Amino acid sequence: MTQALKKNMSDTTGYAEEDLRALEEKYCSYGDTVHYMEKPKFFSSCEGSYLYDAAGTPFLDLQMWYSAVNFGYRNPRLNAVAHRQLDTLPQVASQYLHREKVELAALIAQDAERKFGLKGRVHFNVGGAQAIEDSLKLVRNYTGGKSLMFAFEGGYHGRTLGASAITSSYRYRRRFGHFGERAQFIEFPYHFRGPKGMSKEEYGHYCVQKFARLFETEYNGVWDFKAKKAEYAAFYVEPIQGTGGYVIPPLNFFSELKKVLDQYGILMVVDEIQMGVYRTGKLWSIEHFGVKPDVIVFGKAITNGLNPLSGLWAREEMINPTIFPPGSTHSTFASNPMGTSVALETMKMLEEEDFETQVAQKGARFLDGIRELQKKHKIIGDVDGLGLALRIEVCKKDGFTPDKEMMDWIAEEGMKADMVVNGKKHGLVLDIGGYYKNVITLAPALTISNDEIDLALRLLDELFTRAEKR
Ligand SMILES: Cc1ncc(COP(=O)(O)O)c(C=O)c1O
Repeated sequence: MTQALKKNMSDTTGYAEEDLRALEEKYCSYGDTVHYMEKPKFFSSCEGSYLYDAAGTPFLDLQMWYSAVNFGYRNPRLNAVAHRQLDTLPQVASQYLHREKVELAALIAQDAERKFGLKGRVHFNVGGAQAIEDSLKLVRNYTGGKSLMFAFEGGYHGRTLGASAITSSYRYRRRFGHFGERAQFIEFPYHFRGPKGMSKEEYGHYCVQKFARLFETEYNGVWDFKAKKAEYAAFYVEPIQGTGGYVIPPLNFFSELKKVLDQYGILMVVDEIQMGVYRTGKLWSIEHFGVKPDVIVFGKAITNGLNPLSGLWAREEMINPTIFPPGSTHSTFASNPMGTSVALETMKMLEEEDFETQVAQKGARFLDGIRELQKKHKIIGDVDGLGLALRIEVCKKDGFTPDKEMMDWIAEEGMKADMVVNGKKHGLVLDIGGYYKNVITLAPALTISNDEIDLALRLLDELFTRAEKR
């Protein structure tokens, strides 16, 4: 920890931790995910790949705020821009313009034009789910009000009413009733848990064929042969499933799926909120799959998690001012200058530095390391990775039966921060995902050093050794 950070921490005063805990119990809603843990941890500061508690204990973070802080905590370049913006134009109503918004939209749209050969525009909002809501409006508007969507089993698109309607977990909808959107959930090629005897590519092909079958006869419920129209407007896809457990489909999958969608006039909306901004080594993870999306939705790491900004890019036909005129949607903080200025700097940084190579190299080193751990620990059922989106599936000793209880134990054990390396205690911050909530979804900072990757592997090894001795 740097001296400056130590000084800033000692400057903050206030309640003792136990008093804060009592206040939290009484005054904070439990509706978020904080109380999944028995005793949620308080953190006091952060830097690079680390979070620190009040005592200054380092916790190596392998989830980075659910992949919002891709460029490391308190990234100097991005923080400097935030400070500058704070001192020039931190606030301005959305009905006026500011330079950063326009430049950012232009950079994103020009990039898409280069990569996909498609003209389009960008619309901003503040959170991932809100941008998903905006995309639903665009899709419904463009398709004459259709409110039925396809989405994937294991997919996650956020917790607002519309976003949770197209998210696969009924758990997120159960208390609230139906609002408008409904989705039909389609099998995703989750190869480790797919049918035995098929290669990854064969399974991807099988899933597409199974989906295409829906259009074979009108009796499968989605296609009117006479009108040649589908009842469904769009397919919402995460190229690599995030909350679903960093599931990586075969590379033939989306091009085959897109052919079917094009045949039946169904749009492809690509949710890049978690996997975008170089998590997988590309600006958009869909770039690995060679398809042209109709809509891309982004959020999280576009500002390194500094000031919320999300948004979407859509094909010109769907978003031009005639079809999507002023007032079609609005949010006070959409395109806020703090967010757009940092996001603009992120995009410039991505143009100047070769994150594609760096992420591929670091990802390969990390994946090799977790493959070694898999050989050593029977309870690691599956490992996989694309760039720095990596997965470790925690199972019973048969290496297959999901072990959620063990997964929870490992995550809690990491938070104890009693693992001594080089004479110093360390904690390890892990996130849990997966269809069976038994997957460590690893999203380290893209700026992680090789030494930190080696430390991460050492700490994971220690946790798995302890887990197997329980
Ligand atoms: C793929 C995906 N879509 C949408 C969301 C929702 O974003 P937010 O939590 O910012 O509303 C998330 C959040 O984790 C996500 O991973």
